[in-house]
Amino acid sequence: MIDAPPTPQQREGFRTFAPRVPLIAASILSADFAKLAEDASCALHAGADLLHVDVMDGHFVPNLSMGPAICECLHRALPGAMLDVHLMVTDPAAYLEPFAKAGASHITFHIEANGDAIELADRIHALGMTAGIAIKPDTPTAAIESVLTHFELLLVMSVHPGFSGQKFLASALPKVTRLRSLVPDITRIQLDGGVSPATAAACREAGGDVLVSASALFGAPDYSIPIRQMRGA
Ligand code: DX5
Ligand code: ZN
Repeated sequence: MIDAPPTPQQREGFRTFAPRVPLIAASILSADFAKLAEDASCALHAGADLLHVDVMDGHFVPNLSMGPAICECLHRALPGAMLDVHLMVTDPAAYLEPFAKAGASHITFHIEANGDAIELADRIHALGMTAGIAIKPDTPTAAIESVLTHFELLLVMSVHPGFSGQKFLASALPKVTRLRSLVPDITRIQLDGGVSPATAAACREAGGDVLVSASALFGAPDYSIPIRQMRGA
């Protein structure tokens, strides 16, 4: 099953969506892992555009989360879902192929991690996915400004990566505005961490158009309410 060719829709990654339409990415880190497919499916039916898969290696961040096996199970259970993999790992190069085989549509890695950013982006593209580059809260936008054209998505972390349920860091907003001034509309800018109905409008106004949410979404009794509020529609 994992060697089956991906459908074109899955492998268009973030190119699947019209530019600048705000997208809601449901971060399954706050789903109930005992019924992951059901929770993820509910989030998509409630209006989430895609599933955000947080991968942590216990080294780049002080937490362990999930690996390609979970991605593969999710892909098998929900073959039409777009899987946006966020690698919070020290050595992203080791994980590109396993996640491509597991059905990922998109991979974001961190500029603070090991490896040459352009080479990694080229490998992600060669595997048929779209590519993203992420910066942690203490990393300035200057760290990625010379490589922006190689990526379909720029991820500005609005919490220190590792855990869901943290407070939104407003220092992410001017970084989003700066990056938005440097890239075309087709480039996605994603905010991740502490995004909620209370903080989403500021994220969109700054120029963010992919809002990741774990606790505000999966913690709600009716997922469709925070999704609608965060989208601002
Ligand atoms: C944090 C992860 C986030 C996290 C967001 O390291 O990258 O995707 O799940 O969680 P909330 O939305 O609860 O801040
Ligand atoms: Zn994430």
